[in-house]
Amino acid sequence: MNHIKSKILTVFFSCIATITIYAQPKSIPQKVEALLKKMTLAEKIGQLNQYNGDWAATGPVTTDVGNKLDAIKSGEVGSILNIVGVQHTRVFQEAAMKSRLKIPLLFGQDVIHGYSVTFPIPLAEAASWDLTAIERSARIAATEAAAGGVHWTFAPMVDIARDPRWGRVMEGAGEDPYLGSLIATARVKGFQGNGLGNLDAIMACAKHFTAYGAAIGGRDYNSVDMSLRTLWEVYLPPFKAALDAGVGTFMNSFNDLNGIPASANRYLQRDILKDKWGFKGFVVSDWGSIGEMINHGYVKDNYEAAEAAINAGNDMDMESRSYINNLAKLVAAKKVSIKTIDEAVRRILTKKYELGLFNDPFRFSDAEREKRILNTDEHIAAARDAARKSIVLLKNDKQLLPLSKSIGSIALIGPMTKLKKENKGFWALDVGDENQVVSLYEGMQQQAGNTKLLYAKGCDITDTSRAGFNEAYKTAMQADVAVMAMGERFDMTGEAKSRSNIHLPGVQEELIKAIVATGKPVVVLLYAGRPMVFDWTADHAPAILYTWWLGNQAGNAIADVLYGSYNPAAKLPITFPRTEGQIPIYYNHYNTGRPAKTDSDVNYTSAYIDLLNSPKFAFGHGLSYTTFKYDNLKLSKKSMLKSGAITVSFDLQNTGKYAGEEVAQLYLRDMVSQPLRPVKELKDFKKLMLQPGEKKTIIFTINKDKLAFYNDQLQRITQPGEFGLMIGSASDDIRLQDSFELAN
Ligand code: BGC
Repeated sequence: MNHIKSKILTVFFSCIATITIYAQPKSIPQKVEALLKKMTLAEKIGQLNQYNGDWAATGPVTTDVGNKLDAIKSGEVGSILNIVGVQHTRVFQEAAMKSRLKIPLLFGQDVIHGYSVTFPIPLAEAASWDLTAIERSARIAATEAAAGGVHWTFAPMVDIARDPRWGRVMEGAGEDPYLGSLIATARVKGFQGNGLGNLDAIMACAKHFTAYGAAIGGRDYNSVDMSLRTLWEVYLPPFKAALDAGVGTFMNSFNDLNGIPASANRYLQRDILKDKWGFKGFVVSDWGSIGEMINHGYVKDNYEAAEAAINAGNDMDMESRSYINNLAKLVAAKKVSIKTIDEAVRRILTKKYELGLFNDPFRFSDAEREKRILNTDEHIAAARDAARKSIVLLKNDKQLLPLSKSIGSIALIGPMTKLKKENKGFWALDVGDENQVVSLYEGMQQQAGNTKLLYAKGCDITDTSRAGFNEAYKTAMQADVAVMAMGERFDMTGEAKSRSNIHLPGVQEELIKAIVATGKPVVVLLYAGRPMVFDWTADHAPAILYTWWLGNQAGNAIADVLYGSYNPAAKLPITFPRTEGQIPIYYNHYNTGRPAKTDSDVNYTSAYIDLLNSPKFAFGHGLSYTTFKYDNLKLSKKSMLKSGAITVSFDLQNTGKYAGEEVAQLYLRDMVSQPLRPVKELKDFKKLMLQPGEKKTIIFTINKDKLAFYNDQLQRITQPGEFGLMIGSASDDIRLQDSFELAN
């Protein structure tokens, strides 16, 4: 009896166990494998194919596809870019739901600095050195974009750029790998929020992999020729940081790196990214970059291009149609294995599952949510905060700024004064309406109180005519102060917007001269997407604010800074040359065998005989309305073991009249090293607010990570010896120095 009872119980429990196992939800990898098994080769190749929607092309749109919706219904498309809005994306997703396997489409979009509420261009935001604000800006962009039907942004752009001629400097975080890595992390975290699958998260994409920012001569799409050591030391770290922050995708780049186009670069995509770094997401090509390998002269046709790209680890083809037209033939010819195809498809499907699109392909398509989430007061306030945090006070002679509210009249002069939409900058989306953008004129009107505002344009941005000078001169003469809004057009930076001449365009500097000649105090605002050259202005205008392109809240943010309700604290994330002849110029260079000791030391030193060596404004430069004193540097010890750390402390005091923030910067120099190390490298910084008179102690910790570098075998090592330590307010304004030893 007992025996029978126990048998019944065994059967009972094993049934329960089976039911439990059976009822357990499948994991994403299991779901992906199950789906893969059902897919035909054509359907798999469809997943690797991305088409442009119907607007905003940044490259040639191929038109041979016929009706895109039909292609989607036939399962030939895995992703669409450049369509936004709940209504619009829904139409495409509905087509995907008519395909045999109903695999949802992935909607990608360049959400670079905001979606509807536009934030400052990324280079400007980088100047804030404020990681919390940068993360918040990406968070808000993601929240709005996700509400607008977008699943995936082609951002952050994490290319290091040492050449301001390159138009795409505006999209990145500047020249420094350390700052660039922290900003890459902040942006990925911001976009992806609490993780893919949340309704306010969009998938991020680290681009452009890689070294795109080192295009020879600063000309977009140009070749890159660089040592692998420089690649690892300078250009790869922000990508690694993005990966460590969990970025879902990578985009490769248009350039070749040392003779191999990035789209077919196995070393980059397979050896480094997927193998060494263990990246689990997928790689999308840049726009048409697979097909462009024919122009590079790397392959003879799209068939060879597809073969080279997929075998090198490029998973998705953006717009070149090389995959959709050739992969099946390549598989038949055994030039591409089904294993390779499966691997790419697996990576893409995994992301679609993670985003929750298989549970509900329309989960990002809620029209009510779209209305509710876009343009909230909170988003607008954050955009204003980010904008004022991005403004760099380059110069402020005799404390001309902030302006007093009791000034009788201000002359607003210059072509940027009344601009509206342009304030959004390049790579802004056409979402929201122009009235949400605040011009400088409107921002000043809001805050001017009893001050009379006068206006004269003076000239257009690229004018060669001085016809408006007279009126501008007269207007300035009637005012107590002139504020001049000058710069380059918003679309003079961005993709394919390289300039050989980065001076203030047209006759603008002549206009500044004319207004300075009035003898009135002149504040110059410089709108730009890159460092510009404005030597005369820098030497003669008493106050200069670099305002970049600040987004929807530009006018309010600039007025906040002009009137001092916000005290500027931004620091340049990129070196400003004196003139184009110095480019490339960056602070973390080697010392050379014949370093010039000063700017006038040109006697057989590494210098120009017709130009100073120092930049016009150095990396890390940026003033405040208050002053800061650095004092009392202490090192916890003078020698550290590899396994140990040194604590560095110093006092920072606000010695001026205004409350303000300072970005205290820590630089290190490896004094003797094989191979060489730069004269200075940013290794830490701290941004903090101090009330007038207030003093705080800042502590930095130096461990072996901060001393490590890549040797000529590309191994990350540390070498014992002496390290110089510099702490200051800018890379050329070092206030405290000491040194320590890394012991053997
Ligand atoms: C750019 C990418 C961008 C893509 C899609 C390309 O031309 O290089 O950065 O994400 O277009 O718009």
